[in-house]
Amino acid sequence: SKWGIFQRMPGMKFKLLEKDQDSKARAGVLYTDHGEIETPIFMPVGTAGTVKAVHQRELTYDVKAQIILGNTYHLYLRPGLEVLEAAGGLHKFMGWSAPILTDSGGYQVFSLAESRKISEEGVVFQSHIDGSRHHFTPESVMDIQRSIGADIVMAFDECTPYPCERSYAKTSMDLTHRWLGRCMQRFDATEGKYGYQQALFPIVQGSTYKDLRQDAARFVADQDREGNAIGGLSVGEPAELMYEMTDLVTDLLPADKPRYLMGVGTPANILEAIALGIDMFDCVMPTRNARNGMLFTSEGILNIRNEKWKMDFSPLDSGFQSYVSNFYTKSYLRHLTLSKEMLAAQIASIHNLSFYLWLTGQARERILAGDFSSWKTEMVEKVSRRL
Ligand code: GUN
Repeated sequence: SKWGIFQRMPGMKFKLLEKDQDSKARAGVLYTDHGEIETPIFMPVGTAGTVKAVHQRELTYDVKAQIILGNTYHLYLRPGLEVLEAAGGLHKFMGWSAPILTDSGGYQVFSLAESRKISEEGVVFQSHIDGSRHHFTPESVMDIQRSIGADIVMAFDECTPYPCERSYAKTSMDLTHRWLGRCMQRFDATEGKYGYQQALFPIVQGSTYKDLRQDAARFVADQDREGNAIGGLSVGEPAELMYEMTDLVTDLLPADKPRYLMGVGTPANILEAIALGIDMFDCVMPTRNARNGMLFTSEGILNIRNEKWKMDFSPLDSGFQSYVSNFYTKSYLRHLTLSKEMLAAQIASIHNLSFYLWLTGQARERILAGDFSSWKTEMVEKVSRRL
């Protein structure tokens, strides 16, 4: 069996520990120069050098985050590379010594920039902060991510919207593949600036077209990088289409390398995608939705602003061990939220992230114990309930 083989790679190793019998779920360990990541894993989003409303100390000891995500687009615009390089990279700048992954800007430039013009060369865009004009190319985005110093850097891609005409999806996918060639050439011709290894993950695009997704998955698999990502999903398509595309792609991506589904998703989405062979996730949902009162719990989803919680002095969530989830009551968090107190965002964000990390941790334990599939079916129902 190829499961369990310890694959040696420069700077990064991925060890598969177990594969589920009744699904494509896997449990593994990803080794980086900033420590180990137990997969499946959820990566909290720390766009601008902070996971919003959560201290680094809380990220480590309460949330139990093993890796966080940063954004090339935001960090390049502010504080900028001069500051990041002088600090010795993002880890030192923000005081986070565990692994970091940076997205390439291939998504943010399309969703955030005020205006953007895409060409073979790259993308010209205007900053959403001050309107200033900038140019991203596959080469410049690799150089920027070398300066930021993330352990895992993402290829520069175009994330197609949904729906997307087939002809555009094909043209865009081909461009993403040519950009990938340029990303790899630049990345492989340079090295980390801070004495540790970095890995480059390519991204599978192809919109919702089965054959394009398969072509993209084969192309990406052939590059033989240290891990692979699936992009262009969770952009408004029905969940069933997202699962169908993920299922097709994980059949073609190498089994002995980590697979990252970008921007996904709800707790139920994550459990379903783990069953389809995904190892890594990121999403703004647990932090963004926390800031406007949505809590994800082991019993289901609730809006803490609801009158229903006014006199409810039970803990936010007693279904797992977590200081803020077990200590603070629904009534108190409702009061803080309605009062627009800053502590509301802190408690809700720490709770939601703790729950997401608990959920991926539980999935891992069930895979290792050999009863993931039945647990998943039960859990998807529970975590999707509206309380
Ligand atoms: N985040 C969510 N989806 C995507 C994607 O398709 N590409 C990139 N670069 N980031 C993403």
